[in-house]
Amino acid sequence: MITQEENDLLTQTGKGTPCGELMRRYWQPAALSNELAADKPLPVTIFGEELILFRDGAGKPALIGRYCAHQGVDMIYGRVEGDGLRCLYHGWLFDNCGKVVLRGDWLPEKERRWDVGQSAYPCVDADGVIFTYMGLGEAPLLPPYEFVSLTAENYAATKVLHGNNYLRAIVEAADPAPGLSRFMMPNLTLFQAASPGAKSLVRWRVPVDDQSYLEYTFQFAGELPFTAEPHTAAHEVLLRAVQEMRP
Ligand code: FES
Repeated sequence: MITQEENDLLTQTGKGTPCGELMRRYWQPAALSNELAADKPLPVTIFGEELILFRDGAGKPALIGRYCAHQGVDMIYGRVEGDGLRCLYHGWLFDNCGKVVLRGDWLPEKERRWDVGQSAYPCVDADGVIFTYMGLGEAPLLPPYEFVSLTAENYAATKVLHGNNYLRAIVEAADPAPGLSRFMMPNLTLFQAASPGAKSLVRWRVPVDDQSYLEYTFQFAGELPFTAEPHTAAHEVLLRAVQEMRP
């Protein structure tokens, strides 16, 4: 049974909240790769932060704040260029680190990257999914998730929006443990195939904000890395970790 206070602690994921800071310490899916065209930005909201995804000239995804740091214009109207996303109002060009690109003979160095405070997060396009790391400091390497693999037999990745917070789905799916499901920190549930030939599933529930979440489902033929460790209820594991994040 979760108290109201615990529920609030585990479902508030905005910047600066204990659960939000915990979630930001893990790579999280930002979109499916096939959602992001080469020439059009894609708005996404993760943990209550409104952001915009685009691909640079090399096709690499970039994720920056959705509203231009100059006068707040929505970058959904921005133009994707070879080296960044250009705001269409006054023409500032943002690179994939959220810095404004300045060029001209008037600059001694001819080109300058100007930090104007636009938020930006590193991204990796891996096996049909664009992942981002929204934590502080340098991003760790993306773990080699064996359930995110284009080479896995019958691999499929899908995404669905749900109009309620992510926690209930995790608690219901992982508790009580029927032996075939496991919670994985901080917002995943793994479902082992029930029989040979059946498919295993991983559900990764990423809060859009405190009232909705995106459910990414990875499906494939194969085993999941279950251990024989005694099972602990998902919300207890999460609660312990979140409480450690409190000042
Ligand atoms: S509002 Fe974006 S460049 Fe001015």
